[in-house]
Amino acid sequence: MKHVLRRWIVGMLALGLVLAFGSSSFAHQHGTHKEKKVGILLVAFGSSEASAQVSFENIDRKAKAAWPDVPVYWAYTSRIIRHKLAGQGKTLDSPAVALAHMADQQFTHVAVQSLHTIAGAEYHDLRRVVGAFKSMGYFQSIILGYPLLATQADMEKTVDALFDMIPADRKKEEAVVFMGHGTHHPSNAFYAALMFQAQRRDPHVFIGGVEGYPEIADIQSWLAEKKVKTAWLLPFMSVAGDHAKNDMAGDEADSWKSILSEAGIHCHTVLKGTAEYDGFVDIWLSHLEDVLNHFH
Ligand code: CO
Repeated sequence: MKHVLRRWIVGMLALGLVLAFGSSSFAHQHGTHKEKKVGILLVAFGSSEASAQVSFENIDRKAKAAWPDVPVYWAYTSRIIRHKLAGQGKTLDSPAVALAHMADQQFTHVAVQSLHTIAGAEYHDLRRVVGAFKSMGYFQSIILGYPLLATQADMEKTVDALFDMIPADRKKEEAVVFMGHGTHHPSNAFYAALMFQAQRRDPHVFIGGVEGYPEIADIQSWLAEKKVKTAWLLPFMSVAGDHAKNDMAGDEADSWKSILSEAGIHCHTVLKGTAEYDGFVDIWLSHLEDVLNHFH
């Protein structure tokens, strides 16, 4: 009987040890004892145009300068563009692949920063990916930063940055037409809201979309109302990629330049994406800073 009791005690001790070790290694695996490791994931739509790289490089440089101790990763939300670039031997990560990689690299806190202009379809897809990683529990914290336009302060800073884009040669009576992307998503209303605020400062500034209101036909009629003879066309997209080169400044009959020229308006075009200008990059990075501040 004594013998049985001793075996029982030894057995319970062994079980206790297994539980103690087991639970501590379990906790370790699940991050509570992991060393804090903060990372940044910058997420852009992507562009197949080599000229667009200057925009991405500018953001990359500024983010690394602002947070020199935090590793910066990139991901692109457009599957079509990732696929196209893969054909040229350039492998780019989707947000999910980049986050899986960061989980594998033992990051504990991840700041995902959207480099989109509005919180449209691409941004909301990204939100779902971030939400999935949050529920999987790989990271102690994963937070998504706002796109360019979220708050009223962003709207005001964006109006300032848009005016900074306007070339000095442009005369007061000449129109400035910004080409945004536009979307079927409800957030398309941001473009008209931004135009309203820009026009409070200068009634000859217009903001339209390739794929949403205000369309080029709307803008053309407004330019006619104001009897505008000359217009400056600029992209309101992070990169001066395919849309800026072709849909805005191209020679095909349906480009904005061709449509306005056909209507008797002389056009100048500027091919520089918003992410090439510090005024815009500072807004994206201010949202990233808001996220990083949550990790302290
Ligand atoms: Co597009």
